[in-house]
Amino acid sequence: MNKKWILVVGARPNFMKVAPLIRAIDKRNSSCPSSLITIHYVLVHTGQHYDANMSDAFFRDLRLPNPDLHLGVGSGNHGEQTGRVLIEFERVLLKEQPDLVIVVGDVNSTLACALAAVKLQIPVAHVEAGLRSFDRKMPEEINRLLTDAISDYLFTPSPEGDENLAKEGIPQEKIFLVGDIMVDSLLFHLDQAKQTSILVRLGLKPSNTYALTSDLRLPTSVVPYALMTLHRPANVDDMQSLDRIIRGLLEVSAHFPILFPVHPRTAKQVKAFGMEGSFQFHSSPDIKPEDYFEGGSLRRKIHCFEPLGYLDFLNLMAHAKVVFTDSGGIQEETTVLNIPCITLRDTTERPITLTEGTNVLVHNDPEKIVAEANKVLEGQRRVSQCPSLWDGHTAERIVGILAKHC
Ligand code: UD1
Repeated sequence: MNKKWILVVGARPNFMKVAPLIRAIDKRNSSCPSSLITIHYVLVHTGQHYDANMSDAFFRDLRLPNPDLHLGVGSGNHGEQTGRVLIEFERVLLKEQPDLVIVVGDVNSTLACALAAVKLQIPVAHVEAGLRSFDRKMPEEINRLLTDAISDYLFTPSPEGDENLAKEGIPQEKIFLVGDIMVDSLLFHLDQAKQTSILVRLGLKPSNTYALTSDLRLPTSVVPYALMTLHRPANVDDMQSLDRIIRGLLEVSAHFPILFPVHPRTAKQVKAFGMEGSFQFHSSPDIKPEDYFEGGSLRRKIHCFEPLGYLDFLNLMAHAKVVFTDSGGIQEETTVLNIPCITLRDTTERPITLTEGTNVLVHNDPEKIVAEANKVLEGQRRVSQCPSLWDGHTAERIVGILAKHC
């Protein structure tokens, strides 16, 4: 028997969550006798993210197949973007008549596609269900609440997800604790990621040819650096908030270079607020070691460049002294990598990274930013425990459960 499942991707944080599902489906199909169910998947890209470095680079790095269908919805206000995905995806569903739709994460495409499917009575599976920041000003929180309320299969990464869903009255039989799917991608790609040339291109490590000379006294270690990401509307669309964060980080930049692959939203806002003076823009990530210095000390700037692909970013994160972020997924990835994470938010939908991982919340408070960075400098960093089921096999568990039900 053949089953047709639609897998949806829309924005950057979706790609690494769908790649393991595709591998798990392929594995299951090839290991099942042909008399049993074969799962055919249709990969739909809504086009919420469309830049080469926000989308194409991830397809290449994660070895994702080309999307079967591309809806090309692009950017827009929330209602406009969500509405366009809803309209276009409904057309796809009417034509394809799938047995199941799988959505991941909490972006606008996640909610829009779940809603289109449920209205046509097509079962919906939500991967990364149950996360709550309890901050309804975050667009992602609305997307999470609504997607979970209408999904049929809710796959949670950690036990507090199950508790949140139970409190919202979601029946127990819909909820499956399966672990964190991002960790599947991380563990699958980590060795490969560590081979990319990004550390050399950023002037943080001597090039291979240089390091491979017979002179073993040559320094081969990595220069200590901080990695930063920042794109949440609450941080970057608000001038005061952005200014407070930058003030804190410029203090930190006296101790190690801060590397910042800039999200398009943030790049626009920095320009709009006239804050370019705090940043040093590098047109490509080909930075020379001396670019970090001015008059013998570290340059008091945040070093910016284009967004990076999955492998380069993972490599940079794995070697960082500390990571500053307002992303959700990076809080989890640093916990698995055991790298200190200083989160520029006042809430997190991933509290397990605070209790078991390396994460702390500092909001946009410059003093807290500096104090937490100093703790890292003084070696007072917490060692993380990897939460249970964050083991690289989450996608196999999900596909196993869905194959039994759908
Ligand atoms: C979206 C997700 C957010 C996720 C983030 C990761 C929602 C509500 N938000 O936020 O959860 O953490 O993606 O990046 O779904 N732009 C480009 N090129 C692109 C994509 C966007 O230039 O390829 C620009 C556009 O001007 C757009 C802006 O970035 O208006 C914001 O993009 P959008 O998809 O609306 O939201 P993100 O801030 O990326």
